[in-house]
Amino acid sequence: MNPTIDVLVPEPMHPTVLSELAREFRVHLLWESADPDRLLSQIAPDVRGLVVDGGPVDDELMSTFPNLEIVASSGVGYDRIDAMAAARRGVVVTNTPGILDDEVADMCLGLLLATLRELPQADRFVRAGRWPAGDYRLTPSLRGRTVGVFGLGRIGKAVAHRLEAFGVTVYYSGRTVQPDVQYEYLPGILQLAERVDTLICAVPGGTGTRHAVNADVLRALGRDGVLINIGRGTTVDEPSLISALESGAIRAAGLDVFEHEPHVPAELLALDNVVLLPHVGTASVATREAMARLVVDNVVDWFAGRGPRTAVPETPGDLRTVR
Ligand code: NAP
Ligand code: 8YV
Repeated sequence: MNPTIDVLVPEPMHPTVLSELAREFRVHLLWESADPDRLLSQIAPDVRGLVVDGGPVDDELMSTFPNLEIVASSGVGYDRIDAMAAARRGVVVTNTPGILDDEVADMCLGLLLATLRELPQADRFVRAGRWPAGDYRLTPSLRGRTVGVFGLGRIGKAVAHRLEAFGVTVYYSGRTVQPDVQYEYLPGILQLAERVDTLICAVPGGTGTRHAVNADVLRALGRDGVLINIGRGTTVDEPSLISALESGAIRAAGLDVFEHEPHVPAELLALDNVVLLPHVGTASVATREAMARLVVDNVVDWFAGRGPRTAVPETPGDLRTVR
């Protein structure tokens, strides 16, 4: 243990993060403190590491800690961490990319099939004792669909790879053409939605993608259209989505993420043509354990002078002075 290094954990984290950090550093668990403000004022000058479950971490919070060196976050998405402000302050930000792609992609295909073939609805039908009165209704199918992946990054590619095995045609959109993929590129989400009947969102959150899925995009997707969102809730304009689902402008949606988690609009809860998951894309025992270990490895490596393992592009660890 290095008792000279103070690390602050503001919110509950995976037990492996807490136990492994405690072996190396003096760890302060803010949410367990009876007087968090008092604790913060006592330790703020000493805090050199901040460990979070996605944030939020803004410039004001970072300004509280004059000797802050690293913000280590669990999860690949860091849209709730102001990485540009961290860069200006000389603070490195780390996330957990790569190790969760297959898990999230598996979940995405599960959600897609559950949405099309109405698996939760059919389960509810059996439990309600309605089967003896007649068969469950016929459902839409994945067969013959054209699927657009909005955000063909690490996770998007893992999704597309699985879709190939299902025998559907894949298109994609993002800010740039990717020369090494064989799927057809569409230069914007509207063009993508016009071309496909099934849209999968796997883009990061933040201002660049906020409400990219709007009423026009949903109209372009069409009456047989299906939306799957496994990226961030902010990418979808939820009121427009609710209108489209209520009016039949699109057929169905499968959502793992929402704009104001953990709150889900009552209108969505009332609809029968949606499948709703509580942001569980990475939530298997094995993948959350791997994420926890990478969070800790980033902090340990940083304070051992080896640089961070997986710094975000805004604060590239290998270009920074290793302290
Ligand atoms: P990634 O490898 O960085 O891929 C992101 C993709 O989005 C890239 O293809 C990028 O392509 C595209 N993109 C980025 N900004 C864009 C913009 N403004 N407009 C259009 N396209 C844009 O990230 P990843 O590891 O695949 O993760 C993607 C996201 O999934 C994360 O950021 C996170 O929000 C979400 N996620 C959710 C869960 C869950 O539990 N549901 C789990 C893990 C991750 P271009 O650079 O060409 O635009
Ligand atoms: C987590 C995620 O649920 O990796 C991401 O971006 O959304 C998920 O893995 C989230 O980061 C909280 O740990």
